[in-house]
Amino acid sequence: MLTSAANRQAVTVNVTGRSGTATFTAAPGETLLEAALRQGADVPYSCGSGSCGLCKARVISGRVETLWPEAPAYGKKHRADDALLCQCAAEAPGNHGTLELTLGGASGAISPPGTRPGRFDARVLRIDPIGDDLIEVELGLDRPIRYAAGQFGLFYFPGIVGGRAFSFAAPSPDTGSDRVLLVVKRKLGGPATEFLFARNAPGSRLEMFGPLGHAIFDPGCGRDLICVAGGSGLSFGLSVMGGATLAGHFSTHRGILVVGLRRPSDLASLARLGAMAETAGPGLRIIIALSDEGTVPPEGWTVPGVEVMQGFAHDVMHTAMAGHHANLMAYVAGPPPMIQAVQRVLLLEAKLPAGNILCDTFY
Ligand SMILES: Cc1cc2nc3c(=O)[nH]c(=O)nc-3n(C[C@H](O)[C@H](O)[C@H](O)COP(=O)(O)OP(=O)(O)OC[C@H]3O[C@@H](n4cnc5c(N)ncnc54)[C@H](O)[C@@H]3O)c2cc1C
Ligand code: FES
Repeated sequence: MLTSAANRQAVTVNVTGRSGTATFTAAPGETLLEAALRQGADVPYSCGSGSCGLCKARVISGRVETLWPEAPAYGKKHRADDALLCQCAAEAPGNHGTLELTLGGASGAISPPGTRPGRFDARVLRIDPIGDDLIEVELGLDRPIRYAAGQFGLFYFPGIVGGRAFSFAAPSPDTGSDRVLLVVKRKLGGPATEFLFARNAPGSRLEMFGPLGHAIFDPGCGRDLICVAGGSGLSFGLSVMGGATLAGHFSTHRGILVVGLRRPSDLASLARLGAMAETAGPGLRIIIALSDEGTVPPEGWTVPGVEVMQGFAHDVMHTAMAGHHANLMAYVAGPPPMIQAVQRVLLLEAKLPAGNILCDTFY
């Protein structure tokens, strides 16, 4: 028998993995992923939004409510006991008073309270167009947030079901900030991005859960960096390489940032890259890869420290690396086909170990 969300109570949840059990309490209607992470429990995830499949658990005892049965990560062979932690809420405990699931990557580790993500109230403060179908969005939060360079938030829009992932497009100050910046690409017919592109979006109230994500810059990594950012992946590139710039990483290490854009009209988005080039100095090389055949930047277009090359981001990256493959850490963000093309070059040609390649796929 189904229980309506209004009549439900919080449920204790155990997710048992190969190296221990993550235990947490889930409030009615709350996704199991949010419940776990806000309490510091260790469960695997990547996209937080129903596409990657990393959070797919199996229900052993008790019942879950499937919030989005069509989530792509369920795939064609959707078993009745499959539960994406990011797309399920607790419905009822099992025989022993707990909801029991299994998921290999879960463990009993607990993260310290100051590092856990949480829900924020957010207000859209400013929206500026920065290219074809690309906007910069500034949001004010109800309290300061601290995040690592490369992380993202899940945003909840009024009247739109489910969270939408957007990367923070600037590194967070050490003291935290009650402002976050996004770079958003319009998805035709997509309710959340259309919401942000509407004229009346400034002033709107949203909710955000964050910070999330493991593809983050580690200031102690001691490696040269390569970062490839396709389209709206620009946000991730600005955050990761901006964080490395602020940490002074390019005074002792080299870095290459390749931003894949389609046409010169998108070049309007690059003022922030120019500023980064100026601060980082000669250790960081910034290249715009223009993929639409035959396109050239407008005459006189130039941003000091930013080069423009013709071609797909993965080819431009390969050329720019010029055989320099040792001691590298790679960061990649953008649409799935671009991520796959870049991974192929990094793994097969540059022979980078898989652990040195961190990706955020923008599904
Ligand atoms: C880690 C990550 C970081 C990203 N960063 C950026 C970024 O910085 N800039 C950018 O432009 N894009 C980014 N994206 C892509 C962005 O999330 C999508 O373009 C956005 O969700 C589109 O929303 P939409 O409503 O306009 O379109 P839709 O096509 O309606 O949205 C698709 C997404 O909405 C969610 N969704 C749809 N229906 C439901 C439902 N019923 N229940 C629950 N969820 C649902 C799912 O997440 C799905 O992937 C990122 C994606 C990921 C995974
Ligand atoms: S984290 Fe749940 S499907 Fe990606």
